[in-house]
Amino acid sequence: MERSDKPKAERGLMRWVDDRFPATQMLREHLTQYYAPRNFNFWYFFGSLALLVLVNQILTGVWLTMTYTPTAEEAFASVETIMRDVEWGWLIRYLHTTGASAFFVVIYLHMFRGLLYGSYKAPRELVWVFGMALYLALMAEAFMGYLLPWGQMSYWGAQVITSLFSAIPAIGPGLAEWIRGDYLVTGITLNRFFALHVVALPIVILALVVLHIVALHEVGSNNPDGIDIKARRDADGKPLDGIPFHPYYTLKDLVGVAVFLFVFCVVVFYFPEGGGYFIEQPNFEPANPLQTPDHIAPVWYFTPFYAILRGVTFSLFGLEAKFLGVVAMGFAIAVLFVLPWLDRSPVRSMRYKGWMSRVMLGLFVVCFTTLGVLGVLPSTETRTVIAQICTLGYFAYFLLMPFYTRLEPTRPLPERVTD
Ligand code: HEM
Repeated sequence: MERSDKPKAERGLMRWVDDRFPATQMLREHLTQYYAPRNFNFWYFFGSLALLVLVNQILTGVWLTMTYTPTAEEAFASVETIMRDVEWGWLIRYLHTTGASAFFVVIYLHMFRGLLYGSYKAPRELVWVFGMALYLALMAEAFMGYLLPWGQMSYWGAQVITSLFSAIPAIGPGLAEWIRGDYLVTGITLNRFFALHVVALPIVILALVVLHIVALHEVGSNNPDGIDIKARRDADGKPLDGIPFHPYYTLKDLVGVAVFLFVFCVVVFYFPEGGGYFIEQPNFEPANPLQTPDHIAPVWYFTPFYAILRGVTFSLFGLEAKFLGVVAMGFAIAVLFVLPWLDRSPVRSMRYKGWMSRVMLGLFVVCFTTLGVLGVLPSTETRTVIAQICTLGYFAYFLLMPFYTRLEPTRPLPERVTD
């Protein structure tokens, strides 16, 4: 509807707001006149789904906080109260626990899209770097949230991960104690993790999401062909291969939302424990600092990095294996930050890259998934060797990228996006 077609009162109200706040201008810039490439495919659903899951986590998190008690004495029982006595409490909790795993499923697919179509390459380096900061913040958020139910796995998982810091030479033991606020994980740790989980990190995450999207809208979205749609415009200056985000993609994304919610609800209502992967078995028992569970494994979304950590079984230059494992794990995440500067290919999308990039991306996916599976299982000698090989494969993808992306012949880019 044109402005003049609107009822007078509405026009008056919008004008009143616009004179004081750029509401219409923002809606135009980010929705109705944000021209997105017309060839978005399946892989482009996951950005808006990540936003949906974020909203779910915040809403259900606020409701859980109303009944949850962040003390070592009462935390476990307060979660049981939510599950049994609070009306619809079980649903709110399962939406939150399933939401945590769904977040990582969605984010891993969202990141994979970036690898597939070179969305991290210039001029979208900052979009990627803010995304990586989001990924780190999400990992911290999930890790701290997992301590809150104060079950056996909450307790021992936190104990294992916080003690990793003590492997750092000289400052390590002091640092681990500073993080826990005590010599071991105790109610003090629980209380500070609660503060960080419900206040500090959500603020950081929301701020990063704004930065991520502002950075993206500044340069415009990439697409499956990885070509610049701004290069060809019509007489009005609109990209020939662009369509307004609203209504086209808002509507299309609703299809993704519907399919996602269907699968999500099936899990929430019928398999909320996710076969022991979303809520682990030992977490149905209250935390007991005197009894270690038989097998401690982090939740599935951390296991690739956990397998890299455990794969380092040797000391080097007088440095302990545990410390080297921590370094390898940290490096595995850090290297993702510099990805935009490792890829030297003249093209962005895998559609036009050569066979080496395709083989290396395939190798990366196989190694990352295998590491994920190994991280869940108790370690044996054979599994450690497989983890070591996969760690090499993981790093090869990144560290050899400057070479294979420059060496391989690429295919010619089309003038316009393809359907
Ligand atoms: C809370 C987490 C996140 C949210 C809510 C989020 C949201 C979004 C949204 C709404 C878009 C635009 C729609 C789309 O292209 O799918 C987008 C694009 C993008 N995101 Fe994220 N994102 C998150 C995390 C990440 C992470 C962890 C990375 C990678 C490290 C990342 C990398 C990108 C890239 C490269 C684009 C541009 C893609 C393109 O234009 O082809 N995002 N994100």
